Amino acid sequence: MASPPSSSVNKPSKSLKQIPGNYGLPFFGPISDRHDYFYHQGQDKFFATRIKQYNSTVIRTNMPPGPFISSNSKVIALLDGASFPILFDNTKVEKRNVLDGTFMPSTNFTGGYRVCAYLDTTEPNHTIHKQFFINILVSKKETFVPLFRNTLSESFRELEDQLYGKNGEAKFNDVFGAGAFNFMFRLLCENKDPLDTKLGSEGPGLFDKWLLFQLAPLATLGLPKIFNYIEDFVIRTVPFPFWLAKSGYKKLYEVFSEEAKTLLDEAEKLGIERSEACHNLVFMAGFNAYGGLKNQFPVIIKWVGLAGENLQRELADEVRTVVKEEGGVTLNALEKMTLVKSVIYEAMRIEPAVPYQYAKAREDLVVQSHDASFEIKKGEMIFGYQPFATKDPRIFEDPEVFVARRFVGDGEKLLKHVVWSNGPETEEPSPENKQCPGKNLVVLLCRLFLVEFFLRYDTFEFEYKTVVLGPSVTIKSLTKASTY
Ligand code: HEM
Repeated sequence: MASPPSSSVNKPSKSLKQIPGNYGLPFFGPISDRHDYFYHQGQDKFFATRIKQYNSTVIRTNMPPGPFISSNSKVIALLDGASFPILFDNTKVEKRNVLDGTFMPSTNFTGGYRVCAYLDTTEPNHTIHKQFFINILVSKKETFVPLFRNTLSESFRELEDQLYGKNGEAKFNDVFGAGAFNFMFRLLCENKDPLDTKLGSEGPGLFDKWLLFQLAPLATLGLPKIFNYIEDFVIRTVPFPFWLAKSGYKKLYEVFSEEAKTLLDEAEKLGIERSEACHNLVFMAGFNAYGGLKNQFPVIIKWVGLAGENLQRELADEVRTVVKEEGGVTLNALEKMTLVKSVIYEAMRIEPAVPYQYAKAREDLVVQSHDASFEIKKGEMIFGYQPFATKDPRIFEDPEVFVARRFVGDGEKLLKHVVWSNGPETEEPSPENKQCPGKNLVVLLCRLFLVEFFLRYDTFEFEYKTVVLGPSVTIKSLTKASTY
């Protein structure tokens, strides 16, 4: 299929149009939009109805949280795969303090520092911190596979304990969320078991609370309708104060400060102050990595589960055959598993774990959708709703269908349109861009998760519901591997 045009061209090749849509009355417009977004329509319908209403995939709208948490909730929403990539063009867009959108939680949550993910590429500190993270990941490369396989063994044991215990079911999100935490902790803290620190088993819970108080304005609990307005008022009127998470965060900080000494020494050599490096490390481990991964594994199991037993049988066949041929679970073996690879990319395409991206126009610029060009003024906030970019019917055939082999063979050409990492899958994170430095690690962990799953089991039964920021999965049964 033909590639869409690059969004970041200055000379528009299509007719220049005004961006349609409106922000409504001050105060009331943003509140009405956020009620539509969370309660009356839901996210997908919110955007789909506006695309239809304005006959455009680039529109003006408000984005939550709105008053009084964000002082300006006006955005230009990009809702197709052609315009979306302008968000990655750091010469044209600024990414200062926009990680969470039109508001930024207090820096009290991060020790008073603006940590890496909130820094723009023009800020020298961004280059230094991003380089620090990239160095860490490069230096730990050899440990990824054995460390995550160990973590996964513990997680699968726990999953089975729960399943065969008195409740007869297993809470997938909790088990693999804890696994993601353990992996990141051991990776950054010289393989120390968090249970042997003063965190004990509290680590994931402490991060959850700290994350919740920062991100609550972007969430909904999905309560019955009569509670909607109360919920909206409670979580979107004033930000949650840091003191609610203070003691837990202090504990996390102190333990990382004690156990990640080697990395913090390295940071000092790069010229980063020790406490700034440690707050950055905690943020990367807890917000970026744990926060992302604990949503990612449920997304994968959900789509593999929904695809049914045929796909599960094919995955098990591929995994077991290649592991046997290669003599174990090695990087080489993972590289040969074309179906596993494609399934992971397809899950990331159909349900990106972090669906929103924001940036501000550095200068007056022109963005192109498939049909038209639009002018954006310097300083305007640009917002991309990623599911509409990666389910763009003019890029992906049957975009709403989970096509397990979509990225096999020639399908690999479509990988440039898979952008979960805040950049195309075919490009690499660097100190000069804002792409996730965990990109290749995340893909590796997801593949390993599927491999270990299908070495152990033939198939499974599950239930899921969509909560706060992704699916919540309950495992109802596991059928042990018959052929391995
Ligand atoms: C499934 C898991 C993950 C997802 C979905 C994810 C996604 C993302 C996205 C979308 C961004 C860009 C946010 C923005 O600026 O709009 C980002 C940035 C970042 N991610 Fe990840 N990430 C994941 C895991 C990780 C891991 C495992 C690490 C570290 C080992 C990591 C470290 C970071 C850092 C440090 C940034 C900031 C980059 C910068 O400021 O240039 N992430 N991630």
